[in-house]
Amino acid sequence: MTVPLINFTLIKAISLLPKWFAKPFAKPYVAGETIKEAIDKIKILNEKGYLVTVDILGEHTKSKKEANRITEQYCLLYDQILEENLECSISVKPTHVGLDISSIEVMNNIGKILKKAEETGNFLRIDMESSSVTDKTIQIYEHFKKNSTNIGTVLQAYLLRTQTDLDKLSSSDINIRICKGIYDEPQKISFKDKNEINKNYILFAKKMARNNHFCAYATHDQILIDELVNWIENENISKELFEFQCLFGVPMEGRLEKLMEDGFKVRIYVPFGPDWYDYSMRRLNENPKIINYVLGNLFKND
Ligand code: FDA
Repeated sequence: MTVPLINFTLIKAISLLPKWFAKPFAKPYVAGETIKEAIDKIKILNEKGYLVTVDILGEHTKSKKEANRITEQYCLLYDQILEENLECSISVKPTHVGLDISSIEVMNNIGKILKKAEETGNFLRIDMESSSVTDKTIQIYEHFKKNSTNIGTVLQAYLLRTQTDLDKLSSSDINIRICKGIYDEPQKISFKDKNEINKNYILFAKKMARNNHFCAYATHDQILIDELVNWIENENISKELFEFQCLFGVPMEGRLEKLMEDGFKVRIYVPFGPDWYDYSMRRLNENPKIINYVLGNLFKND
């Protein structure tokens, strides 16, 4: 279905208006501003049978003090997850906890967060940002995975380098989320064609399974999900080796419930925090159809 021009115009208009105006449009994608709001949403998702990974919104932190404060918040989150007995891991963006400041800063902070993940019997996923930090992010992951199985990272199917990265990483046990990739990368280093990205995605998933490595399939693409499910069933891939993942608030028309009914694990990526604005605008741009959905809900609530 094509998206009416009015939706694109509305998104442009929302981005020019004060932030409070964007809030109703951001709401479906973000679990609130506080830890308490996020925990409440996670509980509801867990009750419905979803696993969760939670993320504090923000990136490109420029001060050490702020990077340390965010690190402490992540550690506190692990404590709360344990206290509340939630099925919830944590996802962290390296630039949120100091990658733009220095290698020492980010390593110290990821080290602290991982230690807390281990102490609380939990898991830490390092999100993948733009190609300017792919090498550094892989290095961070390689460093910590030597001594821990409580850590994983993300690789992006749109990058030409991804199969080589995977081959290099595969010599030891790894835990990877595969996604298409969200950043606007130059043509010389990335696939632009949707079919090529999907082909690379499937190749990646197959390699991970062949090596007996756990892979999280992060996508809302129903055709890709169909293809993955067909392959999983035909090849009898062990359910211990994968899970599906989606972003909080993305309408999936009952597909996730169906996956769970069929015995597959589904994890929802739940972002929260005061820095909700940039994330939500990226999500709106990704799917302008959400405008209709939010407006519909606004009118229903009246
Ligand atoms: P595609 O873009 O083809 O979308 C498929 C369908 O879903 C379309 O109909 C589309 O409109 C709809 N859809 C997609 N996104 C939507 C949205 N936000 N709102 C409403 N509808 C939407 N990227 C990255 O670079 N680094 C990372 O670490 C992560 N992490 C991550 C975790 C999880 C759990 C998910 C689901 C995604 C990511 N991503 C990511 C983002 C990912 O790379 C990608 O940009 C989006 O998931 C969109 O790609 P799809 O695979 O969903 O397909």
